[in-house]
Amino acid sequence: MSEDHEIFTRLDQAQAAALPALEQAGDEAALQAWKTAHLGRSSAVMQAFSQLGQAPKEIRPAIGQRANQVKLALESAFAIRSQAIKEQALQRALQQEKLDVTLPGRPQPRGRMHPESRALETIYTILAEMGFQIFRTPEVETDDYNFSLLNIPAYHPARDMWDTFHTTRPGTLLRTHTSPGQVRAMRQRAPEPIRVALPGMCYRYEQTSARSEIQFNQVELLVVGRNITFGDLKGTLTDLARRIYGDNVRTRLRPSYFPFTEPSGEMDVECFVCGGKGCAVCKNSGWLEILGCGMVHPVVLQNGGYDPSEWSGFAAGMGPERMSMLRYGIEDIRYFWSNDVRFLEQFS
Ligand code: DAH
Repeated sequence: MSEDHEIFTRLDQAQAAALPALEQAGDEAALQAWKTAHLGRSSAVMQAFSQLGQAPKEIRPAIGQRANQVKLALESAFAIRSQAIKEQALQRALQQEKLDVTLPGRPQPRGRMHPESRALETIYTILAEMGFQIFRTPEVETDDYNFSLLNIPAYHPARDMWDTFHTTRPGTLLRTHTSPGQVRAMRQRAPEPIRVALPGMCYRYEQTSARSEIQFNQVELLVVGRNITFGDLKGTLTDLARRIYGDNVRTRLRPSYFPFTEPSGEMDVECFVCGGKGCAVCKNSGWLEILGCGMVHPVVLQNGGYDPSEWSGFAAGMGPERMSMLRYGIEDIRYFWSNDVRFLEQFS
């Protein structure tokens, strides 16, 4: 056996050359290049295996053993080096991508609810406590629902009470008030008793001013039952005013006129600015008007599908923007929809 066969020398040299070269490999690409050169098919070790058949038979086991040793040595050196490089790369990444958690955050500007949404929500909550359901009806209405079915026939002078936006489609308009919802609710609910609130946007063809806008909300109430009296109207609306304006607020009902109620009235609350003594807000009267109301007109009950000899009801309509204006001393109704943040930001 000749241990000094040149193949042993070649294997020793291969190992001696490979290990320092491995220390030079500094990244994943260099590692792979090293692996191809020193453990790949044309490397000295792999050549030793593939040429084993040509070596003298008696030294073949020794060559095989030696080649295996070299291969294992290179493989384990490779594994260690490759682990070390991965570790280095991880450390580098951690270092570079470090988050400074002590940096102060960027402040997010805080949104706020529109004062009108806030006012409506308060009113809905109070009405829900009083047993009213919210019932929504269309903003684009027919002439019939907005006027005729509410006892305001075509050409009747009472139509002048509502300056109207008509659409290009004859008989179709933007509702001028939420009262058309009364007939819609009755037609849907007949012949059951009703207790609903009809909220939503209304439109009027008017010159805008501090007191009037072309669009504004109303919240309408409708109660229909077999024994509904003016006493129910007065009790319910007085209770509503107290829940909105405070337990001790005084209210009064004045006679008025609306085609769809008979009798009709308007409710005032004691001026909460001066306590009834008289001031600029209440124009020295001591009272503030908050809603229109009345007993549902028999014609309207009939149009809704209720027999007026058996059924009766009361209705009311209020303007939440107007109520907020009185409450907060807002001088111009146009502030509500002009979206000036200086106005909106005051209601946080
Ligand atoms: N619809 C009336 C308006 O816009 C307000 C109103 C008055 C509603 C009396 C009612 C009511 O339900 O009974 O001026």
